[in-house]
Amino acid sequence: MKQIKFFFSILMVFLLLAGCKQKPEIGFLMDTIARERWIKDRDAFVEKVEEQKGTVIVKVAESDPDVQFKQALELINRDVDVLVIIPVDMVVAAGIVKMAKNKNIPVISYDRLIRDSDIDFFVSTDNITVGEEQARFLTTVSPTGNYVLIGGPTIDNNSYQLYLGWMNILQPMVDKGDINIVGSKFVDRWEPQDGYTMMKEVLEKGETVDAVIAGNDALAGGAIQALEEYELAGKVLVAGQDADITAIRNIILGTQTITVYKPIESMAYNAADVAIKIAKGKKPSDNMSFTINNGHRLVPSILLDGQVVNKQNIRMTVISEGFVAEQEIFE
Ligand code: GAL
Repeated sequence: MKQIKFFFSILMVFLLLAGCKQKPEIGFLMDTIARERWIKDRDAFVEKVEEQKGTVIVKVAESDPDVQFKQALELINRDVDVLVIIPVDMVVAAGIVKMAKNKNIPVISYDRLIRDSDIDFFVSTDNITVGEEQARFLTTVSPTGNYVLIGGPTIDNNSYQLYLGWMNILQPMVDKGDINIVGSKFVDRWEPQDGYTMMKEVLEKGETVDAVIAGNDALAGGAIQALEEYELAGKVLVAGQDADITAIRNIILGTQTITVYKPIESMAYNAADVAIKIAKGKKPSDNMSFTINNGHRLVPSILLDGQVVNKQNIRMTVISEGFVAEQEIFE
């Protein structure tokens, strides 16, 4: 009898373990949810993983790289099947990747590339192209004049990519003497306050400004606030990114010219599919559209396209795709 009991308990443990394997557990390390878009990223990612019978453990670092490191340690010690990281600081995140890989946990870099690390996959929007689109739109409206560039934090690889995109378009025009860059800086955080301070500094110097290109809508919003204080809002072109509600409202008001809308749902769904595939031991290479050199290896990647949103196409873009609801904009 004892032997039978023992046999059954062993069998139970086996079944439990087998059960665990069937339910992939994905760790999702986020920078912040203070900016609207990241809530959409999180919800779409969780939805898609759960649809495929997986579970997600979400951790939000509140933009603190040390907190993200500790959260990563927790998930690695818990032995999650895959780690998906939106890095706060790409150098600290490269350390996280090292720890994860030492424990054979695959890592997907989401939205922001983790350079110089052994990541397994990267899902994002083509950030250089996003920067080019912002600059192309504004220079089409104003092919001459004084431009201000407000870049995101340098701990985020996207900040460099966007800047590269801006300069791809602007540099030839600067060389011709058509455009002057009267202010250009990578700020510390992706927050409105940083955009405001940067813009205020430029305006306090007494510079005339024709156009502002900002890395995201929060920075653009801060810049608009500074322009308002100088009664310049609506007279200066402003480009942002992320299609935040406030930005869309500003576009309708005429204080912001464009934003770039990233296909968040598609990015998050793709990342979820890849995570589940990897967790099940399958190769996600059929999903990839590119390889990207992150300084360590050629990383299989999915890079989607952003879309410019201006006053004319709001309904055809963010509204028709369900990214924002009409009531949210006009309430
Ligand atoms: C960047 C991203 C932007 C914006 C920003 C702030 O990495 O490229 O689209 O979302 O983070 O959260």
